[in-house]
Amino acid sequence: MKVVVIGGTGLIGSRVVAKLRDEGHDAVPASPDTGVNTLTGQGLEDVLQGASVVVDVSNSPSFEEMAVMNFFTTSTRNLLRYAATAGVRHYVALSVVGTERIPDSPYLRAKNAQESLIKSGGIPYSIVHATQFFEFMKRIADEATDGTTVRLPPVLIQPMAADDVATAVAKIAVSTPLNGIVEVAGPQQFRFDELIRQDLRERHDSRTVVTDPHARYFGAELAERSLVPGKDARLGEIRLEDWSHRPALAK
Ligand SMILES: NC(=O)c1ccc[n+]([C@@H]2O[C@H](COP(=O)([O-])OP(=O)(O)OC[C@H]3O[C@@H](n4cnc5c(N)ncnc54)[C@H](OP(=O)(O)O)[C@@H]3O)[C@@H](O)[C@H]2O)c1
Repeated sequence: MKVVVIGGTGLIGSRVVAKLRDEGHDAVPASPDTGVNTLTGQGLEDVLQGASVVVDVSNSPSFEEMAVMNFFTTSTRNLLRYAATAGVRHYVALSVVGTERIPDSPYLRAKNAQESLIKSGGIPYSIVHATQFFEFMKRIADEATDGTTVRLPPVLIQPMAADDVATAVAKIAVSTPLNGIVEVAGPQQFRFDELIRQDLRERHDSRTVVTDPHARYFGAELAERSLVPGKDARLGEIRLEDWSHRPALAK
């Protein structure tokens, strides 16, 4: 099966391409690096020729409010249009657990807009909601840093390894479209502030994590369960301690 992976050179995309190829599929990575730009439409017609499935695991280079909204809405409109013309039968996109309940976050508002376009786009689809990647912990700390202090709320989080995300996305890509959302998450829950405190300690990073119930996460205040999935989530296998100690998994 020909599967075009938009963002196929990124953290998740490169793993999705490798896993699909291991299963014998014709997985084609597409990104500006390979001459495909979903913002302009460049290269889309060519790369989508003969494709049965499109997997969108691209990400906006900027998380600034206007830029990120423009990225996900413009790229998704273009992709839906070219995919429909090419006769694509399954449109898969990666989004974030809790997207619909955290409207104060400009990034998640943009992901919500992306999802709405897909739902009304006319192509059978599957939307995968993943929790925060282990690989994203440093970016989370940097975003929450003021001087040498990192402020984070004492809410629950159930992060997962990029490798487990890619396994789930690759499997869903070659299955029947769900025309709905599936949640994927890691096998363990943590308290957000404690997780990042532990991660910084392991990186020998001297910043101090301060527990602050009102600290904002990419612009949004969080409730106790904002970031964790429902009971039907598919759980990954890789535990945080295994990921931390296996350099091949940690990138
Ligand atoms: N981080 C998390 O914890 C988390 C949690 C749940 C869901 N997600 C979702 O996971 C997805 C993938 O994240 P990631 O960390 O794998 O991203 P990433 O490593 O930053 O990769 C982004 C990819 O998007 C491509 N891209 C950027 N602009 C493009 C454009 N105009 N046209 C086509 N491709 C473009 C990049 O290509 P170049 O390298 O060529 O620029 C790259 O291949 C995102 O949609 C995000 O919302 C993330």
